[in-house]
Amino acid sequence: MISAGAERVFIHEVAPRDGLQIEPVFVPTDRKVAWIDRLSDTGLAKIEITSFVSPKHVPALSDGEEVARRIRRRPGTLYCALIPNARGAERAAQSGLDEINVVISVSATHNRANLRMDPEGSFRALREVRQVLAGTGIALTSSVATAFGCPFEGRQERAKVLDHVERLLAEGCTAVTLADTTGMANPRQVADLVAAVLARHPALPLTLHVHNTRGAGLANVLAGWQAGCVRFDAALGGLGGCPFAPGATGNVCTEDVVNMFEEMGIGTGVDLDSLIAVSRELPDLVGHDVPGQVRAAGRPLDLHPAPPGA
Ligand code: COA
Ligand code: ZN
Repeated sequence: MISAGAERVFIHEVAPRDGLQIEPVFVPTDRKVAWIDRLSDTGLAKIEITSFVSPKHVPALSDGEEVARRIRRRPGTLYCALIPNARGAERAAQSGLDEINVVISVSATHNRANLRMDPEGSFRALREVRQVLAGTGIALTSSVATAFGCPFEGRQERAKVLDHVERLLAEGCTAVTLADTTGMANPRQVADLVAAVLARHPALPLTLHVHNTRGAGLANVLAGWQAGCVRFDAALGGLGGCPFAPGATGNVCTEDVVNMFEEMGIGTGVDLDSLIAVSRELPDLVGHDVPGQVRAAGRPLDLHPAPPGA
């Protein structure tokens, strides 16, 4: 018997950001907008639609303003963007999003590789971001990159991760995401860290962001849910990865996560058939096959005709 987590979970789609940022080919803005609109229609709780980072570093997302302006906003879905600094916050504020997600790594080495500054520089930037957002009504949230391990430094001390979360809350973040940037986490580690964060901050809206780099994505989501997490980032088709972390590959796949929870009788609010239909168009969008499994296999009860005589 699987020990009980909550009966309702909230799925955050990150493919338009985490997915596209690592793609070598620029997906035209029209196609991004149409794709995000179709994702909205599936009932996802949140969509990270782009990032407002340096276009020199991530050219694939250089059209963030236009994407934000042109997408349809579905009531019930929150629209969010990832940013590294105050310049990103200004761009996001002008684009009228619901939330911004400031990324800071626990690992100093990954923060320098990804954002070209020490975590201290990122915390200074966070303070500036807070000032930019004051009075805008845009929620300030933060992602804790490399929370479960760094591809350069290895495991990060649990106390260091907990201090990092503490500091984000002290700086005014209203929600936090624990990110397994390069899929180094295992289920026991996820359960331990999620439980430790929620024990200290029971009312914190905590999100788990895992990559399936080593095949533990769904197991880690399940472990997070059992430990009390109800919000999960995932990417359609299993797209995704950090361009500034060696060996990074896709996020846990959205339709595989939704399928797992729905099969367990846990509500996601997402129309899985519509989600699979959008996912099946991904190879055309990004120009290659994608790793998601439910899109390939179909839902468990998509039955096949019996062979003659069976
Ligand atoms: N949006 C748009 N442009 C930005 C920007 C932002 N948020 N922040 C900085 N820039 C511009 C600067 O204006 C400058 O432009 P210029 O060369 O035309 O004058 C250029 O980018 C470099 O700025 P600088 O402050 O020197 O930054 P840097 O080169 O040290 O890079 C970051 C720092 C944070 C801007 C960069 O590393 C970055 O965008 N990283 C994001 C990485 C990412 O998205 N990773 C995946 C998600 S986890
Ligand atoms: Zn990621």
